[in-house]
Amino acid sequence: MRRPLIAGNWKMHFTVPEGLEYALRLRHALEPFADREDIVVLPPSLMLWEIANVLRGCPLEVGAQNASWEDQGPFTGEIAPKMLAGWCHYLLIGHSERRQLFNETDEQLNRKVQAAFRNGLKVVLALGETLEEHELGRTQEVITRQLSAALYDIDVKRAADLTIAYEPVWAIGTGRAATPEYANETMGLIRRLLVGRFEQLGTDMRILYGGSVTPANARSLMDQPEIDGALVGGASLKQTDFTEIVRAAAEVDRPA
Ligand code: PGA
Repeated sequence: MRRPLIAGNWKMHFTVPEGLEYALRLRHALEPFADREDIVVLPPSLMLWEIANVLRGCPLEVGAQNASWEDQGPFTGEIAPKMLAGWCHYLLIGHSERRQLFNETDEQLNRKVQAAFRNGLKVVLALGETLEEHELGRTQEVITRQLSAALYDIDVKRAADLTIAYEPVWAIGTGRAATPEYANETMGLIRRLLVGRFEQLGTDMRILYGGSVTPANARSLMDQPEIDGALVGGASLKQTDFTEIVRAAAEVDRPA
């Protein structure tokens, strides 16, 4: 059975005091659900260490939204996965905002995945097609390329540390989530690619859906057999909304 995972991507929101106060509130609200699912918060890097301290000793985990592929050196403004090692649990790699606004390439993302694993971090690898690619019927081709490029030369033994987040770019921040059926179908393709690559381990890997997940649609999305959780942007910034999404994941009946 795949354990659900809900990750809240705060993007570039909150000041440091606001983020710390919010993390404390999440801790109290979400702890009761943590025996049934993994819950991860992805704050801005500036407050990540402090938030990891606020959440220490509780089952909520933290992740970084981005990190370099290098371990150290003259890379002004970057943070290294090596700096996250030992206390930060996850690294988000390949979010469409990084791909589009910061021009991150498939090759760079592969180097980031390698660097994350080298430093003992778990990876949430985000991928998905743009609206144009979607309308041109190129979804399958794009996803196949993104997945195989990002996982190039990755040791099969790392499968357990890898979660995929399928995020159609046209659904991110638009209020227009993919239908549960469409998401499930595309994630079925991702599942087949994972099994092709990792064999049996590929069936145990989690695939999340991301893109306008809200309390209103979370349950119907997560009722789908291939949807093992969610990567949540906007709705992760409100405690009540995020709690409802976490609750929805806890309530889904999964085959043993
Ligand atoms: P959204 O963002 O939930 O605001 O659509 C999702 C994401 O960017 O991961």
